[in-house]
Amino acid sequence: MNKIISIDKLQVGMEVVALDKSWLETNILFHRFRVQSKEEIQKLRDNGIRMVTVRLPDPHPSVTPAQVSGELQEQTEVPIYREMEVLPLPSLKEWNALHDKTVAVVSKSFGDVRMGNALEIAPLRQQVVETLELLLRDPRKNSFLVTLSEVDDESYVHSTNTMILAMGLADQSGVPREELPKWGLAALLHDIGKALIPLEILKKPGKLDPNEWETMKRHPKLGHSILSMSKDEVVRGLCTHVAMEHHERKGGGGYPFGLDLPDIDPVSRSLMVLDIYEALTAGRIYRPPLSPAKTLSYLLERELTKLDPRAIAHLVHMVGIYPVGSLVLLTDGRIALITSYKDPDTHTGPVSLLAIFSKPGVPLPEPVPLTLSTIDRSRVKQTFHPRELALSPADIARYLGMAGEDPSGH
Ligand SMILES: [Fe+2]
Repeated sequence: MNKIISIDKLQVGMEVVALDKSWLETNILFHRFRVQSKEEIQKLRDNGIRMVTVRLPDPHPSVTPAQVSGELQEQTEVPIYREMEVLPLPSLKEWNALHDKTVAVVSKSFGDVRMGNALEIAPLRQQVVETLELLLRDPRKNSFLVTLSEVDDESYVHSTNTMILAMGLADQSGVPREELPKWGLAALLHDIGKALIPLEILKKPGKLDPNEWETMKRHPKLGHSILSMSKDEVVRGLCTHVAMEHHERKGGGGYPFGLDLPDIDPVSRSLMVLDIYEALTAGRIYRPPLSPAKTLSYLLERELTKLDPRAIAHLVHMVGIYPVGSLVLLTDGRIALITSYKDPDTHTGPVSLLAIFSKPGVPLPEPVPLTLSTIDRSRVKQTFHPRELALSPADIARYLGMAGEDPSGH
């Protein structure tokens, strides 16, 4: 049960589910949270919040409306709220709906720039904040989402996926949470300069010739000029740097300026890694997608000397070698989908799988649930991207749902 109360009645321990101002009117990132301190309540006041919606246990015999409305004011912590349910795990359907909406917003932004119209930041920022809220509720992290998109417009999907990965990586590497939206917005806009690259080059179904490639390499500078005109301070600052620097490389081997890592913003250094990871796992018209495990091996073996090793290490830690949604060839010949880890943060300990093929090309009549005490290279002979096994994103989502990975029932 939700109840609207005055900010004066809000107490430490209560669960806030809505504020009386929109995302864009305040500096408050989260509008759903449990109040941890009196300072948080003061921050709400400072942002002009007068009324908040709180969630009450429903039903809860220990709580009465009178208690909520004031009788507990003297307490610094409210024990009865400790047992309240946590926010539900986001469903795959919820994730995909948000992902698709973000792709649509990014698509409109690129279209606006292409038409010579002003770039609207507010809708992009809104998608970043909504994505972050879901991301922080989701202990499965985001690793398999990249393979779940049904949308095939690669530029906009790439920007959206990179935004999700960037905020996950920043959170993983200890960046303060209030900084995460800046990382997300910078990732969402890193390729905005491509809006001014001719479509016949952008959408060419094959490798670019040298002249086309030179044109394509103009997109960092074009992005810089688009974003540096923004009235938004974060866009003019961090986002402009990241748009300009994300194709630079360690040792000065990148473009457009040949900068070395120490001269490059840390957000750009992470974006370089994520840019490649997303492109390889999503695939391109002329190149089939790779599994996360193969992509991480590629980064470690082929790109380590060109990228920031710490950013690669954070990525490996975040997605894990075998993230949920991975398809693995086990030593007994069966191909199985990883459906969950007992500890989803570290990808260690017991792991649940669903065997789908008895051997490559031979589906089992019914998927068979399996549990392994752990998963590592001694148990996995090979990994596959779903497309290598003719499985669609919808198939993977269905199998994950079958394994109970989508407890909301969507
Ligand atoms: Fe780029």
